[in-house]
Amino acid sequence: MAKKNKKTSKKKSNGKPKNNKSQETASLNTILTGDCIEMMQALPEGSIDLAFADPPFNIGYKYDVYDDRKTVDDYLEWSKQWMTEVHRLLKDDGAFWLAIGDDFAAELKILAHQLGFHSRNWVIWYYTFGVHCESKFTRSHTHLLYFVKNPKEFTFNRDAVAVPSARQLVYNDKRANPKGRVPDDTWILRPQDCQDGFNPDENCWYFPRVAGTFKERAGFHGCQMPEQLLGRIIRCCSRAGETVFDPFSGSASTSVVAKKLHRNFLTMELSEEYAEKGQERIDAVQPGDPLDGAEDPKLSAPVTYPVDGRGKQLSKATDKPMTDKQLKESFESELIAAFAEAHEGYSVDRLVLDPKLNQAFLDSCLRKSLEGTPLDLNRYLFRLRKSGKIKLAGIETEKRTSYSWDELDKYFDAAEIAWKLTVDEHRVSLDDLYCDPVLAAEFDRTAAQFAPGFQSIDYRWAALTVRKQSKLARSRSEKIARDRNSTKIETGKPIKLEKLDLEDCDSNPGLYVIQSGKKQLYVGETLNLKERLDRSFFGKKSGKNAWRKQGNSLKIAFPSINIQSKSTSHVANELLGYQSFIIAEHTPKLNALNQVVS
Ligand SMILES: C[S@@+](CC[C@H](N)C(=O)[O-])C[C@H]1O[C@@H](n2cnc3c(N)ncnc32)[C@H](O)[C@@H]1O
Repeated sequence: MAKKNKKTSKKKSNGKPKNNKSQETASLNTILTGDCIEMMQALPEGSIDLAFADPPFNIGYKYDVYDDRKTVDDYLEWSKQWMTEVHRLLKDDGAFWLAIGDDFAAELKILAHQLGFHSRNWVIWYYTFGVHCESKFTRSHTHLLYFVKNPKEFTFNRDAVAVPSARQLVYNDKRANPKGRVPDDTWILRPQDCQDGFNPDENCWYFPRVAGTFKERAGFHGCQMPEQLLGRIIRCCSRAGETVFDPFSGSASTSVVAKKLHRNFLTMELSEEYAEKGQERIDAVQPGDPLDGAEDPKLSAPVTYPVDGRGKQLSKATDKPMTDKQLKESFESELIAAFAEAHEGYSVDRLVLDPKLNQAFLDSCLRKSLEGTPLDLNRYLFRLRKSGKIKLAGIETEKRTSYSWDELDKYFDAAEIAWKLTVDEHRVSLDDLYCDPVLAAEFDRTAAQFAPGFQSIDYRWAALTVRKQSKLARSRSEKIARDRNSTKIETGKPIKLEKLDLEDCDSNPGLYVIQSGKKQLYVGETLNLKERLDRSFFGKKSGKNAWRKQGNSLKIAFPSINIQSKSTSHVANELLGYQSFIIAEHTPKLNALNQVVS
């Protein structure tokens, strides 16, 4: 049975600020800028009534200062530190709400119990307009874990959050409680998706996520929580005049709602820019102001700004909700605008592959409050390019990224090997590897081990070139296979690498096969055999250590081939054809060329 409204008449907390009262008061009703753990440690215990925390989810989301990619251990340790402080700051009868994604919901719930919290509800906030995913289900919910410090003493203002029951609304049943019922623990956002579900008395809550086009959107932070959702939590678990705490202010939604609902607020934010803009948002509202957004989202839709036919946002507010199509168009036009701001005349490929340009693009997305991880945003940009929408938007990409074959030859092998190793390890496509800055950096590190001394963009562009050439290489390889009697290729007798005298090698184009024991490791092609072998296995700054990790007692063989062409680009293409042919015969571990699906 639901617990009665026991705490609307609660005794005041016995957790009182000790000797630090003035410090506590000075911290109230303004955003404190800095690290929340350090700042919490400086505050007296038992000084807050309700804590709401929406920490970074550790999913690689792009914030301006905070890096949202810790190792699992570091994230859990960091979570433990800030949650310990929240527990200490809460009064004995206080409540703690934690908003968290799927990735760490289970871990943080267990952690909360270990720290002494007691669980009351596991609410699912269901929303639409999550960032669209192609290869998995789109994120459409956040967990809202509701804890109290003392399972017997806490505020639960049932009447303040009651909603009409189905008995009242649908059946006009006289027996219905005229005060309505407590909402469900699944909270939803788009009523048309579930006419029969998400009823107000269940534990699945439904509130619209604050999409880019909603009037409510503050516009400088991608994770803005809906005011109505926070209103429900604050009304239910605190009373006017009490203190609501949020260690991760972001766009300051918690404080804005606390202020409107006549509560004090205490809040912290690492980013000076977010803090400044959040403060402006707080200053713009007054106690008693209505909360933004529809109170009952199942019965009304959010107020949005209209967009014109090309997805451009117009300035005047309207009561008409945006359709999904308009929202998509609006997102896409903003993403294209972010590209236009950052690309410096270069192509989409170059912008995604070049760390500096890509950072500028992601920063621009952040300024436009476009939701999504770097992987999501880069992927979406590729998709827009593929559908021709970037061209249609009239964006000039007049600057070419051009590498000569002689230049690429210095690290072509390293790029191909790094591509193969990273893709094998993480089971992603080359595009996704480029779109995810963390994987791309891993790729760079691997490539630099095999051919030290070049820039990220060099290795990345080389792997892209391998991929671009793969189709042609395979058709040449098939031709070689058809003509194999006339163009017989001897793979040559393998010799131990340490027995090879570099002086015996010439500086002509050629192929080589590396093996360890009986295992084929890599088929290489190069415009200059002597230089390539020196860079890979012999020189002071060569890739020999990386090669050693691939196998003991490496051997090398030199397939005999007959290059006909004169121009460098034709030679390179002939070599790739031969390389592809030998790869098809031996399936070596480190080649990616033949794996490309056309
Ligand atoms: C998910 S967002 C919060 C969004 C917020 N609920 C809203 O409605 O706008 C998390 C915020 O925590 C901030 N942050 C990360 N680490 C922090 C730390 N150690 N101390 C204070 N703030 C931090 C980030 O800058 C980011 O703005």
